Amino acid sequence: MSDRIVSPAVKQDELALDQSLRPKKLAEYIGQDQVKENLKILLDAAKHRSEAVDHILLYGPPGLGKTTLANIIANEMSAAIRITAGPSIERPGDLAAIVTNLRAGDILFIDEVHRLNRAVEEILYPAMEDFALDLITGKGPSARSIRLKLPRFTIVGATTRFAMLSAPLRDRFGAVYRLDYYDLAAMETIVDRSARILGAEIEPRAVTEIAQRSRGTPRVTNRLLRRVRDFAQVRAEGKITEGVAHQALALMQVDDLGLDEIDRKVLRTIIEKFGGGPVGLDTIAAAISEEADTIMDVYEPYLLQLGFLDRTPRGRIATRRAYQHLGLTPPEQAQQNRLL
Ligand SMILES: Nc1ncnc2c1ncn2[C@@H]1O[C@H](COP(=O)(O)OP(=O)(O)O)[C@@H](O)[C@H]1O
Ligand SMILES: [Mg+2]
Repeated sequence: MSDRIVSPAVKQDELALDQSLRPKKLAEYIGQDQVKENLKILLDAAKHRSEAVDHILLYGPPGLGKTTLANIIANEMSAAIRITAGPSIERPGDLAAIVTNLRAGDILFIDEVHRLNRAVEEILYPAMEDFALDLITGKGPSARSIRLKLPRFTIVGATTRFAMLSAPLRDRFGAVYRLDYYDLAAMETIVDRSARILGAEIEPRAVTEIAQRSRGTPRVTNRLLRRVRDFAQVRAEGKITEGVAHQALALMQVDDLGLDEIDRKVLRTIIEKFGGGPVGLDTIAAAISEEADTIMDVYEPYLLQLGFLDRTPRGRIATRRAYQHLGLTPPEQAQQNRLL
């Protein structure tokens, strides 16, 4: 299978790069100005009172900087961070083991927090609210509940699926921030910064070219940049000019809006196999042999943002703009042509 540009899975060889490109301070974190401003107030106030920060929930599509921000929060608070994820906390005991090892002020980062199971969530509520752990000891008639005090710590939760979070869990986060796709100016700054860190020589126009095709997503930018740099090294003596960027991106089949093969497959399937929709997500997924979750988390949000897709109760519909982008004739236009 080809190297996916948009895929949320971070591969082994990408981890080190991801680390080196990750901003460490809030001031280095580009874009998301509103989130940054609110977060800064929250952190400064907590520092001022020498308290642990309120629990924070970060949500938005993959690759926009949730994990980065969680690390920045710990860094800014000079706190230790413990990293885990919803699916890896299987039993209440797993969570108990983690939280009883935290010290005051520590950050517990729970990625994919919408995937915590019920039983774990139940013991998380008092832990978040009262910094207490309710444990049951013994069995049957001799079972007793004991309450264990925990130090004041901070949970930073991240999710791509805000709607899947249960209401009681959502309510226990004192601060909730939504990350949005980055605008072009922010993307250009990110390309510039990453190129500098990678030591790649790049022309301003090439910066714009890559920024435009990164679907507003820093992780995609970093992937594209790395591949364009490879291309430049092999084919153009290392310098990333506009022409080099253009050729490299064309080779990767990333179009001028940053759509890749899968995006186009999703749209083409709706249009060509299902008459433009409405068609259910699972049907689309089956037709192109992709996971419905991947389409929903990774591909769909950007297609919705571009106005290429409409979500209706009966399924997904390809919009006129989607037809136009693919160079196809929208249905109402085709009908008009027949009438003429
Ligand atoms: N605001 C930002 N400024 C610069 N680089 C960023 C920013 N946000 C994310 N990145 C880069 O994008 C990559 C992916 O970000 P990450 O935090 O892992 O996203 P998420 O956790 O939301 O999927 C990081 O390695 C980082 O280099
Ligand atoms: Mg992440």
